Amino acid sequence: MSRVRWSFLGLDLRALLFLCLVIPSGIVGIYLHGQKITYFLRPLWESPPKPFITLTHYYHENVSMETLCRLHGWGVRDFPRRVYDAVLFSNEVDMLKIRWKEMHPYISQFVLLESNSTFTALLKPLNFALNRDRFKFVEPRLTYGMIGGRFKKGENPFIEEAYQRLALDQLLRIAGIEDDDLLVMSDVDEIPSRHTIDLLRWCDDIPQVLHLQLKNYVYSFEFLYDLRSWRASVHRYQRGKTRYAHYRQADLLLADSGWHCSFCFRYISDFVFKMKAYSHTDRVRFSHYLSPERIQELICKGADLYDMLPEEYTFREIIGKMGPIPHSHSAVHLPAFLLENADEYKYLLPGNCIRESG
Ligand SMILES: *[C@@H]1O[C@H](CO)[C@@H](O)[C@H](O)[C@H]1NC(C)=O
Ligand SMILES: *[C@@H]1O[C@H](CO)[C@@H](O)[C@H](O)[C@H]1NC(C)=O
Repeated sequence: MSRVRWSFLGLDLRALLFLCLVIPSGIVGIYLHGQKITYFLRPLWESPPKPFITLTHYYHENVSMETLCRLHGWGVRDFPRRVYDAVLFSNEVDMLKIRWKEMHPYISQFVLLESNSTFTALLKPLNFALNRDRFKFVEPRLTYGMIGGRFKKGENPFIEEAYQRLALDQLLRIAGIEDDDLLVMSDVDEIPSRHTIDLLRWCDDIPQVLHLQLKNYVYSFEFLYDLRSWRASVHRYQRGKTRYAHYRQADLLLADSGWHCSFCFRYISDFVFKMKAYSHTDRVRFSHYLSPERIQELICKGADLYDMLPEEYTFREIIGKMGPIPHSHSAVHLPAFLLENADEYKYLLPGNCIRESG
């Protein structure tokens, strides 16, 4: 009889233990890792977007333009198209310089717009205006615009972003863009390679809108995440039809067309600024995410700043990309200006993950 009572009591104790320990720690676990759980289960609740049609990209420096155009199924023109490069600028001064030095020989007009507001309605300095003397080499071909922020607190950051992109459309017309000029739409850190721009300006019959597949790097060219950045695009401008955008606008993707270096900043303070000003502010869930020591440690490891899982659509890809990004020791086929000024931009090259404070 007493044994039966004891086992009942044992059951109660276990139930009590369960209530007091397991349930609260489960709740804490879900609070800390809820995002991971939903991302991990993503393949169950979301199907992947329609895949791009990837065009094979042919290039060698010693092959003639006529042959290169023909390999892509295009003809060669008698004279090249004019090319406009248009960017919305925030604080990526070094990336902008590497970008413009890479594209410089083939760009007719550099168009840059900056605002005194981040997408999340925080006041920010006019970083381009403050550093304009570092960009003398584009001055004769530069159209610069400044737009005042709307500073609507609590508004969805996508609205301020759309407002700034609309202003960029107007700035492009002020810069004199005409039908069939090429227009590069991309963020500052999405850098098309020089030869890609040259190919597209010389070949006839290229698609009206073409996305560029870029190599995806994080923090520096030491961490190659994957080859699948696709947001950058090149347009044959059509007045009244072409709109500056940073989402998917067509199905065609030209392979291996350049580099996308996310969070490739010189100073730890730039990382903190970006994490605060970024559109998805819900990612900074805990204030210790912004601690400089933590950020430095994660940069050197190649680990995720937001402690998130990869945004992928199959279990195989999620699991394949979990954990830190492997270190790369290749600095082959990077922007030429970066190698020519390796001392100044050392932090972008393999083996130099320690950032200056500032
Ligand atoms: C490639 O072309 C350059 C100049 O156009 C020439 O100096 C070089 O020898 C060529 N290289 C090869 C491998 O043909
Ligand atoms: C932002 O820039 C606009 C346009 O120059 C200016 O009118 C406005 O006062 C600025 N806002 C702040 C908060 O400085």
